[in-house]
Amino acid sequence: MKYFHSILLLSLLIFSGCKIKTGKDTDSSEQNIQELISKMTLAEKIGQMYQAFDGFYPNDEALKNAVREGKVGSFLNVQGADRINELQRIALEESKHGIPLLFGRDVIHGYRTIFPIPLGMASSWDTSLVEKAMRISSVEAASMGINWTFAPMIDITWDPRWGRIAESCGEDPFLTSQFATAMVKGIQGNLDDPTAVAACAKHFVGYGMAEAGRDYNTTYIPEPLLRNVHLKPFKAAKAAGALTFMSAFNDLNGVPTSGNEFTLKTILRDEWNFKGMVVSDWASVEEMITHGYAANRKDAAEKAVSAGVDMEMSTTSFIDYLKILVEEGKISEKLINNRVANILRVKMSLGLFTKPFLDGKMAKDTILAKSHLNLSRELARNSMVLLKNNNQTLPLSKDIRSLAVIGSFADAPHDQMGTWVFDGNSDDSETPRTTINKILGKRMNFALGVEYSRDKSTVGFNKAIDAARKSEAIVYFVGEESILSGESNSRGIIDLPGVQKELLIELKKTGKRIILVVMAGRPLAIADELELADAVLYAWHPGTMAGPAVADLIFGDYSPTAKLPVTFVKGAGQIPFYYYRKNTGRPAANSDFTYIDDIPRNSKQLSLGFKSMHIDYGIEPLLPFGYGLSYTKFQYTNLQLSDTILNFNESIIVSANISNVGNFETDEIVQMYVRDKVGSITRPIKELKGFNKIHVKPGDNMKVDFEIKPADLEFFNGKDYVIEPGNFEVWIGPNSAEGLKAKFVLK
Ligand code: GLC
Repeated sequence: MKYFHSILLLSLLIFSGCKIKTGKDTDSSEQNIQELISKMTLAEKIGQMYQAFDGFYPNDEALKNAVREGKVGSFLNVQGADRINELQRIALEESKHGIPLLFGRDVIHGYRTIFPIPLGMASSWDTSLVEKAMRISSVEAASMGINWTFAPMIDITWDPRWGRIAESCGEDPFLTSQFATAMVKGIQGNLDDPTAVAACAKHFVGYGMAEAGRDYNTTYIPEPLLRNVHLKPFKAAKAAGALTFMSAFNDLNGVPTSGNEFTLKTILRDEWNFKGMVVSDWASVEEMITHGYAANRKDAAEKAVSAGVDMEMSTTSFIDYLKILVEEGKISEKLINNRVANILRVKMSLGLFTKPFLDGKMAKDTILAKSHLNLSRELARNSMVLLKNNNQTLPLSKDIRSLAVIGSFADAPHDQMGTWVFDGNSDDSETPRTTINKILGKRMNFALGVEYSRDKSTVGFNKAIDAARKSEAIVYFVGEESILSGESNSRGIIDLPGVQKELLIELKKTGKRIILVVMAGRPLAIADELELADAVLYAWHPGTMAGPAVADLIFGDYSPTAKLPVTFVKGAGQIPFYYYRKNTGRPAANSDFTYIDDIPRNSKQLSLGFKSMHIDYGIEPLLPFGYGLSYTKFQYTNLQLSDTILNFNESIIVSANISNVGNFETDEIVQMYVRDKVGSITRPIKELKGFNKIHVKPGDNMKVDFEIKPADLEFFNGKDYVIEPGNFEVWIGPNSAEGLKAKFVLK
């Protein structure tokens, strides 16, 4: 209570001390912003353009003095509500202009309650669940004083070698755009609410196209691909009201994105009219020197601020050189004023001038609240993809006489949370071993088998085989630790690490049913494992409540409903692979595929078919985008179009009937894809244009409608955004590789 009173008193003081009027309407806000800027010195303006990481200043007094003297506009990774409130008080009360601070932190998929990694969240295809999860993440973070988070990460990637695929929503621009919208809304919530946290759409733009999947590597993205794929989720984030964007590390077509006028000015400001703030990614301004694009720190500062970076994260080229650059006439003070206006606009939109503090008692009531843990369990359950389930291996009965639970990922409280869990605590995790033990007790036979994923030792195999032999079935938890994905953690080999597969082969010899549960931050190349196991549940890194979520599914309290947001390749040699590929002039069908081993030994053929495929992999992936099984069976029938002619000023409805012909009541994620048969540039063989998660009882059926408007068919052809008349195909189906097909004409 003491703390609450002091905050209350403090807030009253602040309100009276507040140095800027905060008119609600845009005009008066803009006037107030301009009025404040007119009172600031150049040095004070530049101070707003700096984000200092915790530990930058030699001691706390130096840090507080920097705030008093208006030398910093934001902090990164400063922790603790008390400390944050004290710094905020100093900024509001003891600095000349009383401008509040932004406190930023990476709250990517949870603050203390950890949700599945974003690639897992995307597997749910459930934007409302994900919005709720991001809201909870912000409420927990805000209760600790965080008012800016560096999420959503909405980079598109085609490359599972890239470690940051874990943080992405996968390969598809439409699905990622839906999640970009949901995540921004969840993170920011109602900006008038004290738990509002500024979102940050990152990494702008094209970062996921790092050549060879090597993080930070060069990206070459032709403008049609940039606009038709990579920019789409960011445009959605902007439309959803994201207050901030983050420029990226990569050089895009030769120009680093933190100094790229085409993306930061032409696209973001001129075309999209973005009024928020752009922060550079960690040191990416000064890394333009290493890129060989800036000659020195002064040049880097000039290039970044001229292109469109408003605030520099962690490095100090702005505070060291912008004043000189203005004095030398190389940049105008007007430009600085515009940059500072963007920053002040974010602080005002976030209400920091009126409600700069959080009620300190909030943390006690929100961190790890039961409702938060329940949602984490629900989202984790909805994110695990059933890849195989031969002979109804799953679900298991809770009355099973004995069950072998094997593998290091059955009991990995830290790794089950996944990458980017700054504030997650493994003590909060409930592992599958713990949950299954609660259910089965002594009927569970646990054995590690291997100590960790890269373990090369087979010394633990015998115990695991013994556990298997005395059990009715085996649940074998495999995968990669969280450190094997995430930033900079790209892998050239995307197989299961270590001897996990070798143990699976040994367990197979016991003749027992094997359920493989995979915890990973990327789609691994698991063709052999998929073959060997009777059932496979791909759990990604499911977060704090991995144990209850896995148990909910394997014991059949719920059916898996998730679908893949990314293609699974047969091996790294197929990369890059994405379902919306181009047809080429010589498309291969699966039937064209001759296994390399079946090719006659003395073949004198010139070619195996003159088709675009690998002669060892063929043309199909291991598992297609949108794929996921269920404990029931859904039947798609009766595809209908309201009209086979789509006129420019109208829309058509495409519908199908989905029946639950099995015996498990559950959800189905119905997907709708379109193909443009002829275009002024070549067009993908299909593109996701709609999806709908429906709930159907056994024996019931549901009609699902999708509206197609001409605007849905727009694309950038290298010169303009166009909607071109012609022939189209449309599918409604359970994934990108199958479904009911029809045709229509856009006239
Ligand atoms: C990192 C990441 C970025 C993150 C930032 C702050 O290097 O690239 O996603 O938000 O630095 O931690």
